[in-house]
Amino acid sequence: MTLTYATYLQLPELLELQRPRSTPPEHDEMLFIVIHQTYELWFKLLLHEADKVQRDFSANDLYGAIATWKRLRTIFKTLVGQLDILETMTPLSFASFRERLDTASGFQSFQFRELEFAFGYKRIQATGSVPEQEGRRELVERRLTQRSVVDHFYDFLRQRGVRVPSELFTKPVTLPTQANEALQEELLRVYHEQPELVILFELMTDFDEGFQEWRYRHIKLVERTIGAKRGTGGSAGVEFLKQSLWKPLFPDLWAIRHRM
Ligand code: HEM
Repeated sequence: MTLTYATYLQLPELLELQRPRSTPPEHDEMLFIVIHQTYELWFKLLLHEADKVQRDFSANDLYGAIATWKRLRTIFKTLVGQLDILETMTPLSFASFRERLDTASGFQSFQFRELEFAFGYKRIQATGSVPEQEGRRELVERRLTQRSVVDHFYDFLRQRGVRVPSELFTKPVTLPTQANEALQEELLRVYHEQPELVILFELMTDFDEGFQEWRYRHIKLVERTIGAKRGTGGSAGVEFLKQSLWKPLFPDLWAIRHRM
């Protein structure tokens, strides 16, 4: 059989997967489902690219890494922009089908947790947010116990003659990335001496900014849609989400800016 657009993309199957639960159907539930599914597809691609950038770093491939970070940061900026679409849904409209979500929540997104861990934002307790029954928790645990993109970044820097403090290679991989003053001194030097690496650092900073923007915009979306209500995932809602605000993925790249 000739391959067609629909068969290659498995469109019949894909377009069967949007199943609103409200009866009679609430118009905006379709938007809610489509936007979350879209996010999950982008998360899938981000993880795919994260694996690539780790390989680029370990292979000392600067241009490969630059190309991948360009893609990563562009996807994240797009993710932030897509929240505008969901903000066309009013609080009343969301309230009309919210109870159908039961305890389902983005909090349980195993791919989002994988993303956080892949980029070094490791929180052991957050693995528990992924329901065990779906058999996906092991994916999250695997990311937790694997070296992160930041660990591979240290490998890369070392190959480029940057003196990366040895304790950064021996710390337990399950710990989150920590700012390191000795590394910051080195990065500052690189900013003055190796302009090709500056391109990379700025792209990584773009990505980090995108991640933080997403958290902020998601909180504002939640605030305008449910206010001070508790989350369907069982957390305090906005107050819980605020705990991750302004926490950079690459703290050392932010810490040196006032010294330039
Ligand atoms: C009307 C729209 C939305 C509302 C009211 C909402 C609400 C919430 C709330 C209250 C939480 C905290 C956990 C809980 O107790 O449930 C949460 C977490 C989360 N939501 Fe949303 N959300 C919305 C849209 C989205 C979208 C479009 C995404 C995209 C995937 C998303 C992804 C997440 C993620 C990943 C978390 C976990 C964040 C973390 O642990 O730091 N949410 N959401």
